[in-house]
Amino acid sequence: PASLSLTNEHVVITAGPTREAIDPVRYISNHSSGKMGYALAEAALAMGARVTLVSGPVTVCAPSGVTLINVQSAEQMRDAVMSNIDDATVFIGCAAVADYRPEQVVEQKIKKHDEKLTLTFTKNPDILADVAKLERAPFTVGFAAETQDVSFYAKDKLTRKNLDMIAANDVSDDRIGFNSDQNALSVFWAKGEKTLEIADKYQLALQLMQLISEQLTQKHA
Ligand code: PMT
Repeated sequence: PASLSLTNEHVVITAGPTREAIDPVRYISNHSSGKMGYALAEAALAMGARVTLVSGPVTVCAPSGVTLINVQSAEQMRDAVMSNIDDATVFIGCAAVADYRPEQVVEQKIKKHDEKLTLTFTKNPDILADVAKLERAPFTVGFAAETQDVSFYAKDKLTRKNLDMIAANDVSDDRIGFNSDQNALSVFWAKGEKTLEIADKYQLALQLMQLISEQLTQKHA
């Protein structure tokens, strides 16, 4: 059983994909199922935390006891996170937030007259980086979905975005990562690192929450 080492903590977690509208009937998105983020919410809850889960559209069910906020786009996700971050002590960005959105949402359904269609995209806000920049930032944990040089890119994100911790997964391996029931994580923080071997997402979530709890204790000490 998980030890209740997150009592008195408020953990805010993002999960799932975002959907970026193209026109009234179309969007771009990605294959995130929300399983990893929802497993983290359940693990944090089991360890005694108060949990706010900001989720893109998914089919998994939220564990009872979490405060669930449903959103669609990256901008809505950013707004929901920012409205709930004031008293948060831990933030975990597990969502696969779209990096770009169509520059304009076309008001009417796009018709297929032309042989080619060009869309222009604009950059979305970086929710994780914005949380890390807050004056009273919570203990901020990012995920890194990589397909090559996992540890190099993860460590780069840790320092560039000024995070307390980053959990990297290799999304080129289809046994783990997007939409699978299992994952494996390489976790890095300023003074250490730990490899969490392939396991069910809930088991990994418990191990990651344990690492976070240990580092939180050190940060507060
Ligand atoms: O949902 P599942 O099917 O269970 O799959 C889990 C997962 C593979 C989606 C998850 O484990 C994971 O890796 N999530 C992060 C996916 C991602 O978008 O990674 P990234 O390397 O592109 O982004 C880095 C970090 O910045 C992430 O913490 C992300 O939430 C955050 N980010 C990215 C862009 C953006 N505009 N805002 C953000 O907050």
